[in-house]
Order: sequence, then structure tokens, then C-alpha cells
Amino acid sequence: MIVLKNSHQLARMKEAGAISADALQLAGSLIEPGITTAEIDNILREFILKQGAKPSFLNYNGYPASACISVNNVVIHGIPGKYKLKSGDIVSVDVGAFYEGFHGDNAATFPCGQVSEEAQRLIDTTRECLYKGIAAAQAGARLGDIGHAIQQYAEDRGYSVVRQYIGHGVGRNMHEEPDVPNYGRPGHGLRLIPGMTIAIEPMVNAGGPAVRTMPDGWTVKTCDGKLSAHFEHTIAITEDGPVILTTPSQEK
Ligand code: MF3
Ligand code: CO
Repeated sequence: MIVLKNSHQLARMKEAGAISADALQLAGSLIEPGITTAEIDNILREFILKQGAKPSFLNYNGYPASACISVNNVVIHGIPGKYKLKSGDIVSVDVGAFYEGFHGDNAATFPCGQVSEEAQRLIDTTRECLYKGIAAAQAGARLGDIGHAIQQYAEDRGYSVVRQYIGHGVGRNMHEEPDVPNYGRPGHGLRLIPGMTIAIEPMVNAGGPAVRTMPDGWTVKTCDGKLSAHFEHTIAITEDGPVILTTPSQEK
């Protein structure tokens, strides 16, 4: 069942989204050689709690942290730990906050120190894939239009999109219907209507699309060992076009 949100509920989702976005921005400011991913996670958890919110991911299906921090060939769901970031790493941070009954969910890939030109190009392309997907999320369009926009932009640049993990509806639950794939055919799939709230989250690989989960049950890596990047926003479908709900409080 797809749960539509009214304007009052969307305003509340914007609050949860702002806390999520502020946490992500904070994560970006912390990325530098020498910090461990566990240190970043601790700071994000404290920040979210200080806002009167709860980290959406903590204990979700047993997930042991507040953020997913996925370095280099780790695609998503990297568990924060002792690993110390080093210059040249690309660091995907995914973080969500639950506030006043609603979730925000967002992600971005940050360069640590000096990264290669190829790595930066992958980051820039993946961010643009997200914005292409958002631009396609018009009332009356279809889910396939979003997926196609993302897939085409990535593949035109020689990259591949991950198939095994996709975006999702979001609201009172972190994962709601519908599924939001990062690939698809224009004009196909569910029709988008005002009040839908979805997380669009392209995962783009420098090499092939295949990924596998590590024995910890969470960490997802590229099969070919090549780099992967990930960007995500929570958005609302409205009569006036897509609205990004995960906007930092200073930009609201
Ligand atoms: N943004 C991710 C998602 O939409 C976060 C889930 S990680 C989990 O699936 F640990 F919370 F599961
Ligand atoms: Co998500």
C-alpha cells in the first residue's frame, strides 16, 4: 500500500529531512585523513539525538550503527568501525533521522583529501544521476521515467547502476512502498501522484553492476573491486514538481 502524505505531514517530513540533511552535512565536514568511521558515526548519533530525533538506522533489522559509511569499493551498508580514512578514499555516508513520527533518509559520497580524477568523476556523475532522477519525478510521470533518467546518465558515461538495491517509499516507516529502481523504461511502471514520498538513491559503479554481501551480513561490495558512489534524497511528489525534503536547515 502506498501511503500519501498531506501538506501537514509533508511539513513534518521536512523537519525530519532537515535533521537528516544536517547530519549528512556534518558528516561531510568530518571527512579527513585519520578519522575512523566509528568516530564519525558516534558524532552523527550524538547530533541526531541532540535534535530530539532518533537515528533511523540504529537497530533497524539489527543494524549496529546510526550511519552506513561505505569506503571505495563498498557500495552501501558499510558498518562504521576502526578503519581510519586516508587521502584518496571516497566515502559514502548514508544517514536518516526519525522525528515526530516521520523519517528522513539521505546519502552522499565525499572525497577524502586528494582523490583521483576518475574517483571525482564517479562522484560527480552519481550526484548528477540523483538530480536527473529527481527532475523526472513529476506528478503524472512513472517510476520507469525516474529509473531511466538515472540509468541513461550513468551508462552514457561508462558506468553501471546497481540492480540489487533500489530506492523506496519513505514516511512513518523508513521503507514503504513503492520500490524505486535506478533503472527502467520510460513510460513504464507506477504512475507518480502528489503526496507520494520516496527516497531516490542511485548507487553507481565504476565497473560492472554486480555486488555481493560480506559475511557480516551488511557490507555490500562491488564484485570487481572497483569504486562505487551513492547519493540519496527523500523527496515529495507535488502538483508543483518534486520537492526535496532532505534539505539542510540553513537552506530551508
Ligand atoms: N538508506 C538505506 C536504505 O534506504 C539505509 C538502510 S541501512 C540500515 O536502505 F541499516 F538501516 F538498514
Ligand atoms: Co534509503
